[in-house]
Amino acid sequence: MGYTFEAYQEAADYILSRTSYRPRVAVTLGSGLAPLAEDVQSPDVFPYAEIPHFPRATVEGHPGRMILGTLDGVPVAVMQGRVHAYEGYSLQEVTFYVRVLKLMGVQTLILTNAAGGLNRAFRPGDLMVIEDHINFPGLVGHNPLWGPNEERFGPRFPAMSRAYTRALRDLAFQVARELNIDLRRGVYVGLGGPSFETPAEVRMLRALGGDAVGMSTVHETIVAVHAGMHVLGISTITNIAVDRVDAEEEANHEEVLEAGKAVAPRLSALIKGILRRLNP
Ligand code: HPA
Repeated sequence: MGYTFEAYQEAADYILSRTSYRPRVAVTLGSGLAPLAEDVQSPDVFPYAEIPHFPRATVEGHPGRMILGTLDGVPVAVMQGRVHAYEGYSLQEVTFYVRVLKLMGVQTLILTNAAGGLNRAFRPGDLMVIEDHINFPGLVGHNPLWGPNEERFGPRFPAMSRAYTRALRDLAFQVARELNIDLRRGVYVGLGGPSFETPAEVRMLRALGGDAVGMSTVHETIVAVHAGMHVLGISTITNIAVDRVDAEEEANHEEVLEAGKAVAPRLSALIKGILRRLNP
């Protein structure tokens, strides 16, 4: 598997030759958060199916298109939907768009996702700034950077100790304070899915220091950091991960999408505030 450098370039050129926008910031919308894309003004829309080499999204709540336009006057690329490894895509396919954005001139990537809460203090509807992650599949060899290294993107052994840019995290908290939005912080655990965690797994992940758990983001972050991009990760806590086998409740995709809808306005305000600060 894997793409040539030219494949990424072809996709980037395809988009750049069909829009006059040259955004420095991109936002990836997670499950249930797609409505944020409707706020983009004067959009140029690229369905993933139309972009050379792009994998297509298949999950409900992930429509699958790149939208270039402005949010509150700030040029932005919005990824409305992403593909996940559990859909049968390689990690190179999952992260293809990140390198395309890099070649388009994007320097800052804001990754959003839906996540289950591991931290006992979290409630559905909470927003969490990702401080750090645990890439579970990565620990046993499922890393998007496996294979020959493409030096034109970055080094063979990229550091991940500062994967989520400090200045962006600080900015998120500053904007949240100004807008009176409650913001949590924590460690995001990335798993393969698509099955949700067992209660024993939930207790294990919590014991390991995880605050939220989901099925995306970590691969995109690794590829973005490898390419020298700045990353801000924001999880919407859509459900509390079930940690007892005799609990009544159980995780399901509908509740994830519902909770995503409920937090969308807050997340939208937060992201717009951050964008304005990044491009005053
Ligand atoms: N577990 C994993 N991924 C998720 C969850 C969860 O509870 N909620 C939303 N995405």
